[in-house]
Amino acid sequence: MQTFENTTAFITGAASGIGLALTRALTARGANVMMADINRLTLEPAAEQVQAASQASGGGSVQTCLCDVIKPDDVSAAMAATQAAFGNIHLVFNNAGVGLAGKPGNIPLQDWQWITDINLMGVVYGVESFVPHMLAHGEPSRIINTASMAGHMTMGGMAPYHATKFAVVGYSESLAQELAKTNIGVSVLCPTWVKSNIYNGAAGRPTAQNKSTPAGAPDEAAAALYNMTKGLVDNGMSAQTYAELVLKSIQASRFYVFNDPDARAAIDMRRAAILKDYDACLADLEEM
Ligand SMILES: NC(=O)c1ccc[n+]([C@@H]2O[C@H](COP(=O)([O-])OP(=O)(O)OC[C@H]3O[C@@H](n4cnc5c(N)ncnc54)[C@H](O)[C@@H]3O)[C@@H](O)[C@H]2O)c1
Repeated sequence: MQTFENTTAFITGAASGIGLALTRALTARGANVMMADINRLTLEPAAEQVQAASQASGGGSVQTCLCDVIKPDDVSAAMAATQAAFGNIHLVFNNAGVGLAGKPGNIPLQDWQWITDINLMGVVYGVESFVPHMLAHGEPSRIINTASMAGHMTMGGMAPYHATKFAVVGYSESLAQELAKTNIGVSVLCPTWVKSNIYNGAAGRPTAQNKSTPAGAPDEAAAALYNMTKGLVDNGMSAQTYAELVLKSIQASRFYVFNDPDARAAIDMRRAAILKDYDACLADLEEM
């Protein structure tokens, strides 16, 4: 895809952070965008701001739809609304996501289910709803799933987030192979520390109201982790810069979209650790 002019994009989690920045960057280039989000209070003002800026510069249009990505019916209704508003859909950003931290044995299973439903199944529902439409119209199209650098490296205390983001990376890799000979390309976004409201997301988890620690964290260690990641996110890359990189990557048909020079070594370290045990197992097998 060389130009975004007159294309149509669907973006989940579009009311804030990376999704909102993608909306701005796309409309500025003449794309029409359906902004989908669960949060009505932030969605409408965000859309009004984007529309005003885009109109002033002769860019594309936006519309909004309330959509909870954990509900397959919401996602298919959003697909139908986008098609009705703008016609053929070319770019689907499965971007909505939340964070969750906590110690093993101390994370309520409802919260595990909640983050899995949003961060993984929300992406799956987006793919399942939009792929048939994109295949049918046959025009150059792309699915862009938001994972994270946390889908390639881990740190203690954030198991639910890592588990869902590793899953989105693996799912997207498989999807890219499945769709390789079609009109649909695939990218997976793997950012580290982008300025957004991500650290507030855990406050929406099912058991948050039972807890008094910041951001609904299940224990003090998780609360400390939230505070640490909040600092890193607040001082992170601007969402607008990351969105510009994403659009450049789409134009280059790039699969992974990374942004952090410091995290690169973590991929090498993980690979080295895997291969060390791999070779040790093969050596043991030879002796057996
Ligand atoms: N900000 C970072 O540093 C960072 C790093 C790596 C990955 N990510 C990922 O980027 C994506 C976007 O997050 P962000 O950083 O812009 O955070 P954000 O909190 O600013 O934006 C997330 C948006 O998703 C919406 N949302 C949450 N649950 C939803 C649901 N069930 N249905 C529909 N919308 C829902 C929220 O209302 C919010 O508007 C997430 O998948 C996140 O995991 C962010």
